[in-house]
Amino acid sequence: MRHFLSLIDFSTQEIQQILDQAIDIKSKFKLENWREPLLKRCVAAMIFEKQSLRTRVSFETGIQHLGGSCLYLSGKDVGWGGQRESMKDFSSVLGSYVDFIICRTKSHQSVEELAKYASCPVVNALTDMYHPCQALADVLTIMETTEDMQNEQVAFIGDANNVSRSLAIICAKLGIGLTIAGPAGYQFESSYLDELNQMGTGQIRQTTDPKEAVREVGFVYTDVWTSMGQEEESAIRREAFADFQVNSELMNLAKPEAKFLHCLPANRGEEVTDEVMDDANSLVIQQAENRMHAQKGLMTWLHKANKS
Ligand code: CP
Ligand code: NVA
Repeated sequence: MRHFLSLIDFSTQEIQQILDQAIDIKSKFKLENWREPLLKRCVAAMIFEKQSLRTRVSFETGIQHLGGSCLYLSGKDVGWGGQRESMKDFSSVLGSYVDFIICRTKSHQSVEELAKYASCPVVNALTDMYHPCQALADVLTIMETTEDMQNEQVAFIGDANNVSRSLAIICAKLGIGLTIAGPAGYQFESSYLDELNQMGTGQIRQTTDPKEAVREVGFVYTDVWTSMGQEEESAIRREAFADFQVNSELMNLAKPEAKFLHCLPANRGEEVTDEVMDDANSLVIQQAENRMHAQKGLMTWLHKANKS
């Protein structure tokens, strides 16, 4: 069974296949409002332990466009979490009813455990460690903006979190250069970057200097300083990241037409200014829309891979 828990488990070729499928589905959808039932009568169960707008709605809408349907399950009602029944029993039973389990959990271990026992693909819809669906949409957006992805440089300004971790994996695997700038104490272990740099062709670097990171890059990406579940640390993080705001001054150090990316939701005025968010070079709405197209590519890929 192929699950989608982390991009680490996917080869460059497989990621490319998912993206190609997404591009094909998106172009037909845009041209002819194409809704081929590639997931006819498939049912996805969705369990979310954290808030979501983009992930939840883009999955639900995407599956419906492709002829399937979705069940949004409140964890409390179905007894998620191991108190009512073991994760093994929960997952084995749920997997016997549905075609996909799409799950946003506090701990990455929970999606791994779910996947261990599920007889249908489990999709990571964000954990504390990874946000692989976001990374697919990020690269899809980059691909739509440049003809030569492998000669592009991206700067991620902010936290070593689920979004930047998945972005680093996909950039390493697809040959995109990435520099991550964050304050000391909020960076990746250098061994993690070494591992990524050995795995693929994209060079992944890290610095504590946001100005150095953005110099001459074509894409500047940021995410919130305080992720869901870290709310108690927000004051201390605001202080630690104070010099890491993406504003016009920082954008001016990048290439003249450099694009701005953000996974959203954004804390306007904190990690990014209104001016940058609302600039003509901001791709954030296209990037959010691409969640749906990328996930259509992903689900059809998983459906096919698990049939053969
Ligand atoms: N980017 C993203 O995952 O957004 P949501 O938290 O709204 O799903
Ligand atoms: N890093 C953020 C991403 C939200 C989509 C979080 O985990 O809250």
